[in-house]
Amino acid sequence: NEDKLGNSINRPEADTPKSDQESTDTLTNRQGHPVTDNQNVRTVGNRGPVTLENYDFLEKISHFDRERIPERVVHGRGAGAHGYFEAYGTVGDEPVSKYTRAKLFQEKGKKTPVFVRFSTVIHGTHSPETLRDPRGFAVKFYTEDGNWDLVGNNLKIFFIRDPLKFPDLIHAFKPDPVTNIQDGERIFDFISNSPEAMHMITFLFSPWGIPANYRQMQGSGVNTYRWVNEAGEAVLVKYHWEPKQGIKNLTQTDAEQIQAKNFNHATQDLYESIENGDYPEWEFLVQIMSDDEHPELDFDPLDDTKLWPEDKFPWLPVGRMVLDRNPQDYFTEVEQAAFGTGVLVDGLDFSDDKMLQGRTFSYSDTQRYRVGPNYLQLPINAPKKRVATNQRGGQMQYKVDLGENQNPHVNYEPSTLDGLKEAKQTGKPHTPYVEGNLVREPIDRTNNFGQAGDTYRHMEEWEREELITNLVNTLAPCDERIKSKMVEMFYKCDEDYGKRVEEGLRNASANNTSTREPIGAEGAEDAPQQAEEKG
Ligand code: HEM
Repeated sequence: NEDKLGNSINRPEADTPKSDQESTDTLTNRQGHPVTDNQNVRTVGNRGPVTLENYDFLEKISHFDRERIPERVVHGRGAGAHGYFEAYGTVGDEPVSKYTRAKLFQEKGKKTPVFVRFSTVIHGTHSPETLRDPRGFAVKFYTEDGNWDLVGNNLKIFFIRDPLKFPDLIHAFKPDPVTNIQDGERIFDFISNSPEAMHMITFLFSPWGIPANYRQMQGSGVNTYRWVNEAGEAVLVKYHWEPKQGIKNLTQTDAEQIQAKNFNHATQDLYESIENGDYPEWEFLVQIMSDDEHPELDFDPLDDTKLWPEDKFPWLPVGRMVLDRNPQDYFTEVEQAAFGTGVLVDGLDFSDDKMLQGRTFSYSDTQRYRVGPNYLQLPINAPKKRVATNQRGGQMQYKVDLGENQNPHVNYEPSTLDGLKEAKQTGKPHTPYVEGNLVREPIDRTNNFGQAGDTYRHMEEWEREELITNLVNTLAPCDERIKSKMVEMFYKCDEDYGKRVEEGLRNASANNTSTREPIGAEGAEDAPQQAEEKG
């Protein structure tokens, strides 16, 4: 029983037996009992007291009491849409099969259904969508080989390069555990002790930290993956989404003006565009690098705080994605959606990127807690293809993933008694050789400031002004030790960058304008007014 969007819904068939109290629009409870009074609880006399055997009331209230599941520990606020991915069959002007055997890419015009969830990272499920924050860009491809999730962000790099630091990073950005208020001092306390974050901070405090909406922003896989071809040979890849709608970012002032009137503007924009038939579209591109350490580069290709320079590693188009259907029910499809970096198909592989490996444990771990151990049986998460496993039980199992000819008694493998068998290996396995001492050490080519300086210099002047204003507003009220560490690091990125932040802080302290506010917010009325279209 599926609705027009392909979601399974529990709508009774026309010939489902009805009691003689019922017509097709009669309210029932979850046991199928027709409800004759939905206005009055059962009481002793019409003034009460209420009695405990009020089954309908107790069921209705206790289901309501459980309507929420834990929100995502990060990326709590989001919006989703369905659509499709269409392959070009090529990567740039070469056949894509040269680099990957992943089936969804091979044939020109081949379509794969997708579900996308966009999000903000730090605040909860109903927080304003105008906040300075990276935006999530998670895509689930329902391929013929099973699901592939590409869990990315709008920005192409990240704050840290070691997954052990992720909980600390998030704690610093989340509200103070005592006051429950986000505090720039806590953020810059962490950042000033984590110089690898300087590149990301440079993007985040510029207009790139507040995309105008979800349709006019880029997406990126951020971490480095591998593509594997039929011969088992691998290359390193980075994934990118380029919006056909162009890119638009907001100044702090623009964002505050929108937020004053509408804190759901990005969800509304996405939903209404799709309802109006104005379907957003992104081109899908990859950057490719040979699978080695690349000693000629001044950074490590597996370091997710770095961009791969486009002149050396061009963006090569591989396909396009169109979003053309809104979810029918937010909770069923968007809230319960579960994406993870471990969800790959044949022809796609992990790289040794430490962050990617740390993330891969975290997603399915949190989803077993957040949604439940059978989260993969929910229609939004289940592959749109045959699933046959020997896994049974767990909370809320509602069906058995049995193979067509599988003996239902045989939930183990190997077996001679019509159990499930292993699949045939197609394509040569990719078997990289790994060797080394077990250590706890940072990578060699950290180069924490070089690309942050390049990014600063490549910005337009209005973007640099915005960046400086937002940084100064957030840093001004911070502890002097944090300010001086930050200024020292801005100088290391770029002389002009350091000078302008230092001057801004000096002026702020002379005017004594500093009160602690959410990131970027205070004094923003001095910032340039325009939001410029780019791309
Ligand atoms: C969501 C962990 C880094 C993008 C999540 C969630 C966790 C998590 C636990 C919640 C998932 C859920 O409840 O379903 C981590 C860890 C990281 C990390 C441990 C680093 C070690 C990143 C990076 C990116 C990213 C680098 C960008 C490429 C996302 C997105 C979501 C998400 C887009 C939301 C997915 C959705 O819409 O459901 N992350 N994350 N994360 N993460 Fe990460």
